[in-house]
Amino acid sequence: MGAPPHRVLVVGSVNVDLVTHVPRFPAPGETVGGGDFSVHPGGKGANQAVAAARLGVPTMLIAAVGHDDHARLALRHLTAAGVDTSAVHAVEAPTGVAQILVDASGENLIAIAAGANHHLHPPDVAARVAARVGPGDVLVSNLEVTTEVVAAAFESARRVGARTVLNPAPAARVDAEVLAACDVLVPNEHEAALLAPGGAPALLTEIGGAVIETLGARGARLLRTGQPEVRQPAFHARVVDTTGAGDAFVGGLAATLARGAGLVEAVRAAAAVGALAVEGFGAQTSFPDAQELRSRLDEHEDGAAGGAGVWRTPR
Ligand code: RIB
Repeated sequence: MGAPPHRVLVVGSVNVDLVTHVPRFPAPGETVGGGDFSVHPGGKGANQAVAAARLGVPTMLIAAVGHDDHARLALRHLTAAGVDTSAVHAVEAPTGVAQILVDASGENLIAIAAGANHHLHPPDVAARVAARVGPGDVLVSNLEVTTEVVAAAFESARRVGARTVLNPAPAARVDAEVLAACDVLVPNEHEAALLAPGGAPALLTEIGGAVIETLGARGARLLRTGQPEVRQPAFHARVVDTTGAGDAFVGGLAATLARGAGLVEAVRAAAAVGALAVEGFGAQTSFPDAQELRSRLDEHEDGAAGGAGVWRTPR
């Protein structure tokens, strides 16, 4: 028996995704009909937590929801996936909602009403993290909560020797102090360019540690100070819906790091989790378990297959 894995703690958002499938996206002012409608659990924080928990790693979500039916739906799915929701608090604001259009190619457009996600208070989050985080745990956050909340969570986590992972999505500018508190930054190309004019290499210079840039159909690249860049090709996937694929990548990365793997192995596992996540509709509902991940990794011992059908990281 090896040592038990460290835990993943996610400080992030909970949304309910209202998804309409359309043959093509409408232009501004245009109406496009003929789409199916479905409701899915979502939110980048909840998605990242579910992705980690589905892989069998003890995972906790620190978040805010409303006193409403959307909260009940979200919490039911989180609990079913094995996420510890004891640090998800109800506040006097509606649970976050994402209006999502998915076109025939699986691409999406998303508009968000943050609601309760913007009612997290930095000192309260810091206390909730401090009460639960331990050395070697992996604390994950994203930008669907405020950067003040991210900063407070990262400070608490680093104080006890936990590692911090920031997915700077949706794309936004972030203070240098927050970036400096990241051990691992996971932007896509657009987010990296917004954070530093020189993109991922410039970000690495700024924060030290590691930057993992997701590159859509070209996979991902790992940059570490003083070490050669490592390229991870994209895994083959039958793309149905890319919603939550980036979150699956981040959750898979955090879970693999919590199990004690190094960054190169964790990036490979993350790429496989992201590929599996695009093969079903919705975000959390399509995330793989450990057995499904193992099978996909075994199919591609040498890395991954390129070419048509590779999954694309959401821009
Ligand atoms: O990354 C996908 C997620 O972004 C969706 O689940 C939606 O809730 C939005 O937050």
